[in-house]
Amino acid sequence: MSTRLTSHESVPVARRGSEKQLRMHSGELPEGGMRRVDLQGRLVALARVEGQVFAFADTCSHERASLSQGYLDGYTVECPLHGALFDVRDGRALSLPATAGVETFQVREERGELLLEAAVRPSKESIDE
Ligand code: FES
Repeated sequence: MSTRLTSHESVPVARRGSEKQLRMHSGELPEGGMRRVDLQGRLVALARVEGQVFAFADTCSHERASLSQGYLDGYTVECPLHGALFDVRDGRALSLPATAGVETFQVREERGELLLEAAVRPSKESIDE
């Protein structure tokens, strides 16, 4: 069973790490939470679901809303503006009005830290209009 939770506050600045990475303490992303980080000028949303951390482009593919300000329900994030749904695991759009997915990013968790990589994985094909 999943609980519908609102996002936590965003983190506007990149901290520790090289130019291509961002490190943050694992405790800054609690279970069921989302945060926004700035990775080399890219706004990235982080979400923790069932202990796993997922990273995806924060900006909705429909318009300009911040997905980390939306609602997380299991592996699905709902855009706060028009309600499009995305799968946080692969960025795929699950419902209109979004017709394209969002990019995803490599993220690892080790020794109490989250390591977000700049490498981008393109979004998967999405739903037809
Ligand atoms: S801006 Fe996200 S569904 Fe419209």
